[in-house]
Amino acid sequence: MNLQLTEEQEMMRRMVRDFAEKEVQPEVDRMEREERFPKELIKKMGGLGLMGIPIPEEYGGSGMDYTSYIIAINELSKVSAALGVILSVHTSVGTNPILTFGTDKQKAYYLPKLASGEFLGAFALTEPGAGSDAASMRTKAVKDGDQYILNGSKMFITNGGEADTYITFARTGDAEGSKGISAFIVEKDTPGLVIGKAERKMGLHGSSTVELSFDNCAVSKEQLLGTEGDGFKIAMANLNVGRIGIAAQALGIGEAALEHASAYAGEREQFGQPIAKNQGISFKLADMATEVEAAKLLTYQAASLVQRNAPCSKEASMAKMYASKTARKAAIEAVQVYGGYGYTEDYPVERFFRDAKVTEIYEGTNEIQHKVIAKNLLR
Ligand code: CAA
Repeated sequence: MNLQLTEEQEMMRRMVRDFAEKEVQPEVDRMEREERFPKELIKKMGGLGLMGIPIPEEYGGSGMDYTSYIIAINELSKVSAALGVILSVHTSVGTNPILTFGTDKQKAYYLPKLASGEFLGAFALTEPGAGSDAASMRTKAVKDGDQYILNGSKMFITNGGEADTYITFARTGDAEGSKGISAFIVEKDTPGLVIGKAERKMGLHGSSTVELSFDNCAVSKEQLLGTEGDGFKIAMANLNVGRIGIAAQALGIGEAALEHASAYAGEREQFGQPIAKNQGISFKLADMATEVEAAKLLTYQAASLVQRNAPCSKEASMAKMYASKTARKAAIEAVQVYGGYGYTEDYPVERFFRDAKVTEIYEGTNEIQHKVIAKNLLR
């Protein structure tokens, strides 16, 4: 496969790298220490066309290919993994379901708002008792005339405290498991939608993660996304795309860990020479670089499948599983290279370590990715 980027994709990389270094980097500390959601940055990203990269121009998006979108998450995450996940969730699972399964009316109304960054998207699948086993969800949507009445609760909703639209999954039929689930577009001010507790997390302090509850929350039947009963398939199809976004986020963290650790190893002197002269350090960097490179190949390969509309469930899970493991390992090793300094908040590597961990958990734990890969292999 050819990983040579096109001129347009190279321009996207340069533009996002520039934005990340000049605009995002100065905000990282505040996001981290104050758990501050970066609204102003998201507005600027909207202005640069980054909130709707793969959305067609007719809907107000940038009309660029999927690889360009992955490049943007990859570059942003080198500087701020929190901003990386905000963009990934907004696009892959907050906007893409409307593009793929929405009616003409839903697309015409929501896509321009989401693609411009006027609206921020979220995805409400997980529940307190239904995480990996998403099909065991209990939230119900009962049809009542021209409306559906939603009752239930959702948990760990990324972008949740700040979003304008929630792609929400609820049971509409008596069928058990994955069959009786439907998807709805729920707007933030809908009466009965209550934004609950904000989680205090180990990492990604700049991103919002909340509980939601639906208390007799009435939505028009026009807010149904796709057909009744297709909700689980809508969730899974968009999670495939989302998992590649998370792989790109993890890749960004891994690359940043490698870059910082290599630079530090070249500067830090002990026993009269840079610590990089010790095989114990240089071999560590060689392993990190090899694994980061492999994660990059898997991630961009999976992105190229989406671009070609080819099935990508196995490759998305492989990329997400490998890139997240690589990010976690690279970040731990970067802390080790920095020694005592790496354990302090004065250097970014401890943040990389805390941010990396969740990439092995959300959008399907790595144990679930094994399950998806094995099922694809053995079918
Ligand atoms: N792509 C396409 N279709 C898929 C699929 C995938 N990745 N995974 C499952 N399906 C389809 C199956 O083919 C099956 O279709 P049929 O009914 O036509 O046969 C249907 O979905 C049901 O599949 P299973 O019988 O395998 O369902 P299951 O209940 O045994 O479990 C699972 C499937 C893979 C474990 C699924 O529940 C899963 O992915 N769980 C993880 C949930 C998850 O990723 N949550 C993320 C929350 S969002 C988030 O984290 C965002 C964030 O904050 C960053």
